[in-house]
Amino acid sequence: MRLTRKVTAMALASCMVLSLAACGGSKPAETTAAPAAETTTAAPAAEATEPAKEEAETTAADVAATVEGKDPSEVKVGISIYQFADNFMTLYREELKKYLVEEIGVKEENISIMDGKNDQGEQMNQIRNFITQGYDVMIINLVQASSEPTVTEECHAAGIPVVYINREPEAEREQAWVDGGIKATYVGADARQSGTFQGEEIAELENKGDADGDGVVRYIMVQGDPENVDAQYRTEKSIEALTAAGVEVEELVKMRGDWDQTKGQEITANALSQHGAKIDVVFCNNDAMALGALQAIEAAGRKVNEDIYLVGVDALVEVVEHVMNGKMTGTVFNDYFGQAHTAADKAMDFVNGKDVDNVYMVDYVKVTPENAGEVLELIK
Ligand code: BGC
Repeated sequence: MRLTRKVTAMALASCMVLSLAACGGSKPAETTAAPAAETTTAAPAAEATEPAKEEAETTAADVAATVEGKDPSEVKVGISIYQFADNFMTLYREELKKYLVEEIGVKEENISIMDGKNDQGEQMNQIRNFITQGYDVMIINLVQASSEPTVTEECHAAGIPVVYINREPEAEREQAWVDGGIKATYVGADARQSGTFQGEEIAELENKGDADGDGVVRYIMVQGDPENVDAQYRTEKSIEALTAAGVEVEELVKMRGDWDQTKGQEITANALSQHGAKIDVVFCNNDAMALGALQAIEAAGRKVNEDIYLVGVDALVEVVEHVMNGKMTGTVFNDYFGQAHTAADKAMDFVNGKDVDNVYMVDYVKVTPENAGEVLELIK
């Protein structure tokens, strides 16, 4: 039986406040995601006196480690990111590498991080190279979530476990890994939660986002890549949260901006010239596009939090600063620390023959002027 594990943002906070090492990959039993069974060892109770027993347990653990485990400095980790030209995934990949090297003890030269260049064919070649070169484990941010079956099949045939990150494969596929005894898992965040938080940030404003006070909240939706569940859920759930708060809404524009700042700017600029003062709220599926939207809003002579509202997702440093100084209404922290650490921990668990669940979800956190300062301290 496998369950979706929730990795809480609190775990992140305490990791950061106490010490990152305390949440390190070498001791996965300390994280919230470790199955309880892992913490018990098979030391028979009948074994002798107290001091002798302690000694016996240590020895048993050591033996288990050498038989099952692999020295982290010998582990080769193959990583492919869907594209390096993505602000959020850049933060994620830097944290992933840092954690693998500094906290887990993987050698820098044993980590290969490839740029998928937003091209599934290119990424497939990178994965096949990892297979040929005998990598121990892969951490893959798919270009297209729909290519997961091919990737999983080839890795499974080669006996290499895979940790998928950021772009979630279909739920049936996640179940198929369990049913087929396949060493694959997904580490991400539930995009429904981020969408809901965006909608709530608007609904919690005194005027519930109705900037011109005409009784209807008219909005534009700047979407990521609509094939991606993050884009789908954020689009759907943000509006659902707003209507659930009793707000009447009207969609003026919905367009794909592919997570890209320039596209966010263009879409918002066009919408502003077409619909002008009618627009009360600009929803962006991520912060990069929200930064683009802000440029367009300022160029059109509009003022966020006065005559228009603007929300994104990710909590990029620049955006959190804007939330603090009132240039943006809010964002949602997409916890790349928690995601990167869990992905690395699970990769090592696979290598060490430990049980790994099929899905791990890290919580999002709302970012509003009230807590933006605290969030900035965490991420800066
Ligand atoms: C992030 C986006 C990013 C995308 C990449 C999302 O979770 O919010 O900023 O572009 O992942 O897949």
